[in-house]
Amino acid sequence: KPQQAGETAGAPAAAKKLVIGFSQVGAESAWRTAETKSIRGEAEKRGIDLKFADAQGKQANQINALSSFIAQKVDAIVLAPVVETGWENVLMQAKEANIPVILVDRGIKVSDESLYTTLIASDFVEEGRMAAEWLAKKMNGKANIYELQGTTGAAPAIDRKKGFEEVLAKNPGMTIVKSQSADFTRAKGKEVMEAFIKSDREKIQAVYAHNDDMALGAIQALEEAGMNPGKDVILISVDGVKGAFEAMVAGKLNATVECNPLMGPTVFDTIAKIRAGEKVPKFIQSKDQLFEQSTAAQVISTREY
Ligand code: AHR
Repeated sequence: KPQQAGETAGAPAAAKKLVIGFSQVGAESAWRTAETKSIRGEAEKRGIDLKFADAQGKQANQINALSSFIAQKVDAIVLAPVVETGWENVLMQAKEANIPVILVDRGIKVSDESLYTTLIASDFVEEGRMAAEWLAKKMNGKANIYELQGTTGAAPAIDRKKGFEEVLAKNPGMTIVKSQSADFTRAKGKEVMEAFIKSDREKIQAVYAHNDDMALGAIQALEEAGMNPGKDVILISVDGVKGAFEAMVAGKLNATVECNPLMGPTVFDTIAKIRAGEKVPKFIQSKDQLFEQSTAAQVISTREY
């Protein structure tokens, strides 16, 4: 065969490096940082050229990043979508360019499901159910709950609320008194909790935070107000990051529902299967479990993120 550009005469052509575009939400939480590290680290291990784009929490930045990946003719796109809706146009362009799109950690709502190949994520509705079941048991079916929601329009915020409320509907003594978005960040979690304390100090019995970072911010607000998180106010959140385990060991957080961010290996195994023409499931679910304060000290050293 004729010699190609870049080939040395007599030597086989080097395998072409796989080029993958990864559009990440941002760096709003410890969980997100762990997910980025897992995907970047695994790409590096496998010699993949990963084009990383941090959207700083903005869907418009993600759409621009995807358009640029398509123009560069990447082999696959990995997308952690900030919100559920508004993806049709750009995903249609990816489909037309024959570029498979792998959603990670958050799902989307599209009329045509063929616009993405698969979703690798946790079941957020189930996480909400697990949190509510634990809290109802802990509070003997009666509590004034203050909810810190994740980013408005994001799948984990919508689904963790949905699952939680499903269980509350069967526990009439458990009431969400106030519920507000704190955008999955520690700083906003503290700010919203301060406002809750200002208006409702005497009423607050429990806090349900859609992620650990917001719970950690709320703990700080409660402590600064002279209250006793983990004792006078029971707190449960989602993610299972190291900081949550430290707060549980310190007796300030009561429980966390794990949401595994270490999806790098699954992401690239799945892309390899898609490229080999194998059929992959539409939803590849990560398994999660709930951790309580009572076992936190025992398991903290085994936590990987
Ligand atoms: O999509 C997963 C969620 O996004 C995590 O629970 C939260 O910490 C993150 O920001």
